[in-house]
Amino acid sequence: MATQKTWGGRFSGGTDDRVERFTESISFDGRLYREDILASQAHARMLAHVGLISQDEADMIVGALNDIQGEIERGEMAYSIALEDIHTHIERALIERLGDVGRKLHTGRSRNDQVITDVKLWTRSGIDILDVCLAELQRSLLDNAERHRDLVIPGYTHFQRAQPVLASHYLLAYVEKYQRDRERLADCRKRVNVLSLGTAALAGTSLPIDREFVRAQLGFDSIAANSLDVSSDRDFVLEFVFDLSLIALHLAGWAEEWILWSTTEFSFLELPDAFCTGSSIMPHKKNPDVLELIRGKSARVVASLQQLLMLVKGLPLAYNRDLQEDKEAIFDAFDTVSACLELAAALVRDTHFRRDTIAARIEDGYLDATTLMEFFVKQGIPLRSAHEAVGKLIRQCEERRCRLIDLPSDTFDAIQPGLSAKVRGVLGVGNALAAFQSYGSTAPAEVAKQLAAWRERLQH
Ligand code: ARG
Repeated sequence: MATQKTWGGRFSGGTDDRVERFTESISFDGRLYREDILASQAHARMLAHVGLISQDEADMIVGALNDIQGEIERGEMAYSIALEDIHTHIERALIERLGDVGRKLHTGRSRNDQVITDVKLWTRSGIDILDVCLAELQRSLLDNAERHRDLVIPGYTHFQRAQPVLASHYLLAYVEKYQRDRERLADCRKRVNVLSLGTAALAGTSLPIDREFVRAQLGFDSIAANSLDVSSDRDFVLEFVFDLSLIALHLAGWAEEWILWSTTEFSFLELPDAFCTGSSIMPHKKNPDVLELIRGKSARVVASLQQLLMLVKGLPLAYNRDLQEDKEAIFDAFDTVSACLELAAALVRDTHFRRDTIAARIEDGYLDATTLMEFFVKQGIPLRSAHEAVGKLIRQCEERRCRLIDLPSDTFDAIQPGLSAKVRGVLGVGNALAAFQSYGSTAPAEVAKQLAAWRERLQH
């Protein structure tokens, strides 16, 4: 029906049904209702402040919008594709309540600056929620690290045993990654928190609006200075979903690690029963489905980023309807990552390292070889010669099927006289671990400092 349209004036006859179905966004942008109402209330107050409407009219609008919010939250608002999107639904509901007063709300405003303001308000809350989720996951990792502070596990490169690390050092590695994710989101928030409202369709308005008034009402830090830029700007959406993608990838790498570490082959971890599922045919199975889905869901987050990157490619200034397609991607990426973070935090909290099985095989794989090489360096042997000497020792170990510590004394004395007596103090995983000393390393004293520093930083 042409009469329902906010833009119906210049049209004769109705819109094709197929066009209505094709162009609607109410089926997914309904979740912006709170932000839309918040921004409209600020806009109405501003209109009264500059005298474009009376104070009474503004009060009526603010009150009616509160009622409309209640109606939406009680599920009483019927959505119709004829009304396109959430912005039109709310304005229509306002006009139904207030008649001509309601018809004044859209003064000095366009859906182009309205929609971007709503998305910014929504993204700002999303960032704040994610920060809480990430901090919670960091605290879970930290608690787990403190429970396993002295446990030594193999560190891997190329998925081959490399050097020993403290389990607490390993867990803090993820605390660092999620800290960078929090910082990236906080940085993105700066670009989100710029007021778009008041740029109208693309060029601004000839009406005497007060954008500073709206900025202060909505808690934005500053005001976007170029109206043409605003109606086309989705940079912050891309940035936000990139940040979400990186979180999803951090989670996916960790999930992969823990899926492997919980296998019989590794037996490093005991995953909590409540976060695993069974098999309908194999009674013994305990499957890490939550971790697998966390790994798998990273695909859809990165797909959303890809979708958004392609969406804006080649778009001319200023608003183009293509941009309506940003919503499902941003909503889905946020929903997916926040759900993954919540589950990850709970799973990390209740997962235990299996000290017995880890200890049973910790001396395998020459985890002490690099420390031995560095010990040779301390004896004055040039690094490259030390590397070669240890390489040869490993070859002997391979032949004898033994550990470095099991080699006969004369093997070491052949490298440098008297070496075998000293070398006993550095061989074996415990000694190798204790030998670390550099800042940022897995040295027990360094890790203890990091644990204390994170405990302080992650205090509520
Ligand atoms: N539903 C639209 C969107 O999400 C609102 C903006 C429509 N603007 C326009 N000029 N048709 O992008």
